[in-house]
Amino acid sequence: MHLVCVVGARPNFMKIAPIMRALKAFPQIKTTLVHTGQHYDQNLSDVFFQELGISEPDISLGVGSGSHGRQTADILAAMEQVLIECAERKDPVDRLVVVGDVNSTMAASLAAAKLCIPVAHVEAGLRSFDRTMPEEINRIVTDSLSDMLLVSEPAGMENLRREGHAESELHLVGNVMIDTLRQHVESARQRNTLSKLGVSSGEYVVVTLHRPSNVDQRESLTALVDVLVATSPTLPVIFPVHPRTLSRLEQFGLTERLKSAARLQILPPQAYGDFLCLTSQAKAIVTDSGGLQEESTALGVPCLTMRANTERPITVDVGTSTLLGGDCQKLEQCLQSVIKGRYKTGRCPELWDGKASERIAAILGKEAR
Ligand code: UD1
Repeated sequence: MHLVCVVGARPNFMKIAPIMRALKAFPQIKTTLVHTGQHYDQNLSDVFFQELGISEPDISLGVGSGSHGRQTADILAAMEQVLIECAERKDPVDRLVVVGDVNSTMAASLAAAKLCIPVAHVEAGLRSFDRTMPEEINRIVTDSLSDMLLVSEPAGMENLRREGHAESELHLVGNVMIDTLRQHVESARQRNTLSKLGVSSGEYVVVTLHRPSNVDQRESLTALVDVLVATSPTLPVIFPVHPRTLSRLEQFGLTERLKSAARLQILPPQAYGDFLCLTSQAKAIVTDSGGLQEESTALGVPCLTMRANTERPITVDVGTSTLLGGDCQKLEQCLQSVIKGRYKTGRCPELWDGKASERIAAILGKEAR
């Protein structure tokens, strides 16, 4: 069986790594790894391949950045070409494997579905019910094109049932990103990342923000910067900045404010191990990332989520996340309750046990028999 696995953007890499590894146990499966090039910066892409031990992509499409339409169209056309060439070389593709909810996920699925190649979607069924999020559109389209839906939390199963998927297509397998976290967390904690930054375990907050709803408007980004600056004297702030956010901070003249706050450090996007070293020992995490909501739940670290909704409800119901929308007053209150030790403690969801990718490989392996 020939599987084509697709990655494109940073959050895809930690999801595909354990799957590629688990598939090695199945000699009857040949894999081809395609990198669309949606993320192309060294520190958003290459560094993850090196650290997570993912083999070099067999095919790199190099599509790069663009509007959603342009980027999706470029990936669609390039993926179609890849899949057709495989068939022409008498090495036809039996199944496409996609992960997550980025533009690469959706565009690759569409290329395969049009060529009648079945699609397996890892992290299927998640719904924020907010169609203003580009990722929500990507999730809906990808799931509707997939016939193997590999789900990380029970809400995903309910969503897919409601959307009419057959029970035989659904598999609750757990969370592959947590497989990667469990594999790396002990060695990550041994790194000297904290001492290099001059912070101590449990005595700082990690911040990541990149969603348009938080960073694209001057007022919302300014309000967030104000809270971070006000928090830093009590609790040092470590803020690795996504390229999109950096350009907005500069555009709105906020970079100097951040740089002049004494115990607030802005950093470039961090490599996996350094970032895990930081998040696993943080007092709290402030974020709008979907993946980080899950990682903080697995780590038991309070997660103050600057979003009005989440496609990952288990991180709120069972885990350590609280949804704050864009409410910076609530953010300040939550930070206070963390500092005073009054914030809720969560627990780790079932099947977030480091073995999700083995369960996925077993399902794919069964098909290859
Ligand atoms: C993408 C995903 C988002 C994910 C995020 C993680 C979509 C719709 N969004 O958002 O779900 O949470 O990745 O990081 O797929 N850029 C660089 N270097 C790069 C890549 C991008 O500087 O290597 C800049 C470019 O100016 C680009 C912008 O970042 O236009 C946005 O990149 P893009 O891939 O379109 O979306 P992200 O915001 O990264």
